Amino acid sequence: MNVSSRLDHHTPKYEDQVGNFGLSYHLEMLKDTERVGRIRQALDEVLQPDGIHCELGIGTGVFAIYAASKCRKVYAVEKDPAIYAFAKKNIQESIYADKIELYLADGLDFVPEEKADTLLVEMMSIWCINEPQVTVMNHARKHILRAGGVSIPSRIVNLVELGHYDFEVMGVPCPSSLPQFSGITAPRIMTQSAVFNTFDFGKANTETIEDQIQIKALVSGNVNCARLSSLVQLSPSITFYSTDSLMPLTIVPLRARAVQAGDELTFYSQFKVRTDLERSRFELR
Ligand SMILES: C[S@@+](CC[C@H](N)C(=O)[O-])C[C@H]1O[C@@H](n2cnc3c(N)ncnc32)[C@H](O)[C@@H]1O
Repeated sequence: MNVSSRLDHHTPKYEDQVGNFGLSYHLEMLKDTERVGRIRQALDEVLQPDGIHCELGIGTGVFAIYAASKCRKVYAVEKDPAIYAFAKKNIQESIYADKIELYLADGLDFVPEEKADTLLVEMMSIWCINEPQVTVMNHARKHILRAGGVSIPSRIVNLVELGHYDFEVMGVPCPSSLPQFSGITAPRIMTQSAVFNTFDFGKANTETIEDQIQIKALVSGNVNCARLSSLVQLSPSITFYSTDSLMPLTIVPLRARAVQAGDELTFYSQFKVRTDLERSRFELR
């Protein structure tokens, strides 16, 4: 049995290994009704009965099978051999098997015979830092999706708030990044929420982001953390924000700074997609 902690699921090491997600995590993601419900609504909104759909990173195959019930043909691609074998059995046993072309392949270089009308890629992580969403979408919009085709998601907006977090536990300082899963104490937010950057999947996106933005302090006190969140446009009218299994709000430590209500604070970040939070920079300047 492949069981790991919630934290491992949000820090897959895509650069040097495949198949970080065990079946237990796939089941956890599929039992997240908010996540599954929103993706399913987005599929309902964009799939066309005579259309060709492609899903990169199908996991268990659940969404590929669902999509096949609503369109003409599905390209289903998965890179992890273990979950691919599981999906293959599910697809073969489904009544839509003849509509699904299954590939054990890397979504970063997969090229289908015909271009797709619709595309689903759920390789999302907070700010798109850990997972390969942006890199895979850069490939897919050129080689997989037809011009004018619709992708799920179409846009991800990265937001930041600044605040104070008690990183100390019984006198021991633990200044680490931390997903704010259910049951984890939240930071005390002290600023407005600000947009740091936007990934628009209708065009190519740069994979290294470096910028600084101004954020106004709403109360006085000691700022020592940023809380990252991502707002996802799944389809024209369906959005997704955050759950424990997908893009949990994430707290990152900053060097502490005393601020006054009304101060304009400069928040700087530099990160590369498909890496990790530890290699990213988050600073108050
Ligand atoms: C977060 S899971 C989503 C699974 C499924 N689409 C769903 O929504 O339940 C991401 C999946 O993408 C696969 N994956 C990651 N990188 C990939 C790549 N470069 N090419 C194809 N599949 C990949 C992972 O193995 C995993 O099964």
